[in-house]
Amino acid sequence: MIGTANGFHVSITGIGANVPERVMTNDELSEMVDTSDEWIMHRTGIRERRIAREDEALSDMALPAARQALAMAGVTGPELDLLICATVTPDMAFPATAAIMADELGATEAAAYDLSAGCTGWMYAVAQAYGMLAGGVCRRALVVGGDVLSKIVDWSDRTTCIVFGDGAGAVVLERVESGGFMGFELGADGSGGMQLYLPAGGSREPTSAESVARHDHYVHMNGREVFKFATRVLVSSAEKLLDQLGLTVDDIDLYVPHQANVRIINHAVERLGIPEEKVVVNVDRYGNTSSGSIPLALADAVRSRRVDKGDIVLMTGMGAGLTWGSGVMEWTEEIAA
Ligand code: ACO
Repeated sequence: MIGTANGFHVSITGIGANVPERVMTNDELSEMVDTSDEWIMHRTGIRERRIAREDEALSDMALPAARQALAMAGVTGPELDLLICATVTPDMAFPATAAIMADELGATEAAAYDLSAGCTGWMYAVAQAYGMLAGGVCRRALVVGGDVLSKIVDWSDRTTCIVFGDGAGAVVLERVESGGFMGFELGADGSGGMQLYLPAGGSREPTSAESVARHDHYVHMNGREVFKFATRVLVSSAEKLLDQLGLTVDDIDLYVPHQANVRIINHAVERLGIPEEKVVVNVDRYGNTSSGSIPLALADAVRSRRVDKGDIVLMTGMGAGLTWGSGVMEWTEEIAA
């Protein structure tokens, strides 16, 4: 799917992010599996990641992010009419984590549902909320992206446990006078679905003692194949969207790629020809936080005042599905000093 903005102007008017307190370093991981700080740094650029407490679910982690986003936008829970939570690690299969969060936020007028598109989830959810706002169906949306991958990672599998971390971000989307989202390019290739999947817990393979013994309730990933896919789509999705919008990389002021692996980011940055100073990288501190990745990185950029009113922002995600998605927007909020 590719499309140019049409209808009401819609922008991000508030953003927030939150991660668990506990920091897990590479040295700690090397005590659990056969790896080293040097290998992880060299192959991924990840120095440390955050890990949720045993009793900490997605909504616990995402609610502070949502409250920050609402406060920045000056919007209250009851004023929301849409709440989408992008995740592959909801509090439970149902009710939706979005509904749990809506209740906590007093968002009694909001439609609330979860969206599953792997690490691309937040980008998909933003595009969906954009459509409802631009078409006039809704006025104020909260789009949350977050995952607690530490709960579904096999801590005895060194090929997966080193790359993931926990984190959440949230944005408020509202109509604005001008600027805001300019277009989206989203896609999926289900033929690659088994390169990154969680076999058990669904209707194909309900969780059982046997599935647990096979470690089927944990993430399975073919790292090399996902790596190849990621390097390809981060570039092609951005190029297609910029072309559609009549923009070039020179028009981009800030590039926020999915934070999976610094080598994947470097490859995309090099191929696209985006100067390093325009690229947001925080994978070193958080690892791959899946749906939380892009909003966490964007929130970092806002906090450090790397984006300001009028800047053109390019965001691209990719992940399980296999899915990918890009969005381009003109940032509309003044960032206070
Ligand atoms: N420590 C030490 N050695 C390791 C480790 C480790 N943690 N993991 C693998 N190795 C070994 C392998 O066994 C292999 O050894 P061999 O050559 O003797 O066979 C060697 O290191 C190289 O393994 P590769 O898998 O080729 O390593 P690669 O450079 O591809 O790095 C990684 C692996 C980091 C997983 C990389 O492939 C990657 O980042 N892939 C993309 C992952 C990703 O982005 N996933 C998320 C998608 S988003 C979502 O929806 C959740």
